Amino acid sequence: MLRSLLSLFLCFSAILPLLNVSSLADVITCSGTVPMRYRNDKISITDFGGVGDGITLNTKAFEEAIYRIQRLRRRGGTLLYIPPGVYLTGSFNLTSRMTLYLARGAVIRATQDTLTWPLIAPLPSYGRGRELPGGRYMSFIHGDGLHDVIITGENGTIDGQGDVWWNMWRQRSLQFTRPNLIEFMNSRNIIISNTIFLNSPFWNIHPVYCSNVVIRYVTILAPVDSPNTDGIDPDSSSNVCIEDSYIATGDDLVAVKSGWDEYGIAYGRPSFDITIRRVTGSSPFAGIAIGSETSGGVENVLAENINLYNMGIGIHLKTNIGRGGIIKNITVSDVYMEHVRKGIKIAGDVGDHPDDKFDPNALPVVKEVTIRNILGVKVLQPGLIQGLKNSPFTDICLSKINLHGVEGPETPWKCSDVSGAALGVSPGPCAELTSTHQTGTCSNSY
Ligand SMILES: *[C@@H]1O[C@H](CO)[C@@H](O)[C@H](O)[C@H]1NC(C)=O
Ligand SMILES: *[C@@H]1O[C@H](CO)[C@@H](O)[C@H](O)[C@H]1NC(C)=O
Ligand SMILES: *[C@@H]1O[C@H](CO)[C@@H](O)[C@H](O)[C@H]1NC(C)=O
Repeated sequence: MLRSLLSLFLCFSAILPLLNVSSLADVITCSGTVPMRYRNDKISITDFGGVGDGITLNTKAFEEAIYRIQRLRRRGGTLLYIPPGVYLTGSFNLTSRMTLYLARGAVIRATQDTLTWPLIAPLPSYGRGRELPGGRYMSFIHGDGLHDVIITGENGTIDGQGDVWWNMWRQRSLQFTRPNLIEFMNSRNIIISNTIFLNSPFWNIHPVYCSNVVIRYVTILAPVDSPNTDGIDPDSSSNVCIEDSYIATGDDLVAVKSGWDEYGIAYGRPSFDITIRRVTGSSPFAGIAIGSETSGGVENVLAENINLYNMGIGIHLKTNIGRGGIIKNITVSDVYMEHVRKGIKIAGDVGDHPDDKFDPNALPVVKEVTIRNILGVKVLQPGLIQGLKNSPFTDICLSKINLHGVEGPETPWKCSDVSGAALGVSPGPCAELTSTHQTGTCSNSY
């Protein structure tokens, strides 16, 4: 056995030089988006009285350590080291030019004392909390107006202990919108890497009104039945690069957003230049999602090399009447999906409204969407594309798509109010996408 493995290996090493091995070095990464910084000034949470026994509340220690970083402004910034241990704490704010470094075996764990959890103002592009009117609970780890912040380490854990919040949601006893696990607002040059995110109360990682954000080598975990535990939600943000991560949660794995109905339209801040690559995961909702809050618009999204298992929906573009906003130039390619209810869904009737003041004439626009090289097995329904009568989806290109069912007769595609083209799609898509004079849409995008 060992011998045959060895000879297989030798055989491979003999072939490797013949292949274009340089392509291995050419793997595209997010590295250029934000420079990684090495910081000479290092402090440890234990210098500020931090105790990693899982019982002591460390909120003061985090506040004092971060206040020290903010006040002294050491050249090149400061690294805050979290040694192995479990550090229970209330939510806290980060500051600019810092690295939060979790050692192997370090856990920063959120208190479950929801009564003392701080409230902050709603996001202007949402007009209210996403779940309930009024303010919202501050994210567990928060940053507003920051630059040059890194959260990294040796795959330590940031644990939201979200079950108390999920239960309040289930019992309808929440007073305000649940906290995200990590939120950066109005910030730039952010790197989040080599960290595990566990049991977020609500969305896991939420960059909003941000630019230049890299999220890579992260693991995000929450139970399959945990409500609204989206993995990563770039929201009204640009130049966001997400790669090499594993996400298994109770809601969309990655969902690109840009504000909600009349508030999002008025705020008018789009999400654009978003890259998502080499992400693997599973969820009862969507793998790669755009929306449903897209009122500021979403442009130039590339998602590629995605592996999805046990999903509700593989790829989901979703918006609604009253949203407004333009969703365009979206490319999703090289996706493998297995055991999925719906392979591809693009729909104009998804998601709720903040209130009844939304403008029914604010119709979303969806155009220039390319979905190619998709292989799905055990897919119950291959595709569903439902545009709006008064705002049909245009230039939708489907190419090289194979979405096989479980057994028995193939469930057909369903489409309405959509135009575009389809090349090499099996089972054959709806007539709206097969008219030959439109194949230009698809060939341009190669
Ligand atoms: C943390 O930031 C929020 C929002 O910027 C602010 O309202 C709050 O006062 C800050 N908390 C502390 C302890 O500085
Ligand atoms: C942390 O996890 C990533 C995968 O997400 C892995 O590539 C990396 O080697 C791990 N790092 C350490 C120090 O264990
Ligand atoms: C469309 O988006 C891609 C990223 O997926 C980008 O490279 C390209 O420049 C965009 N095209 C236009 C016309 O903006």
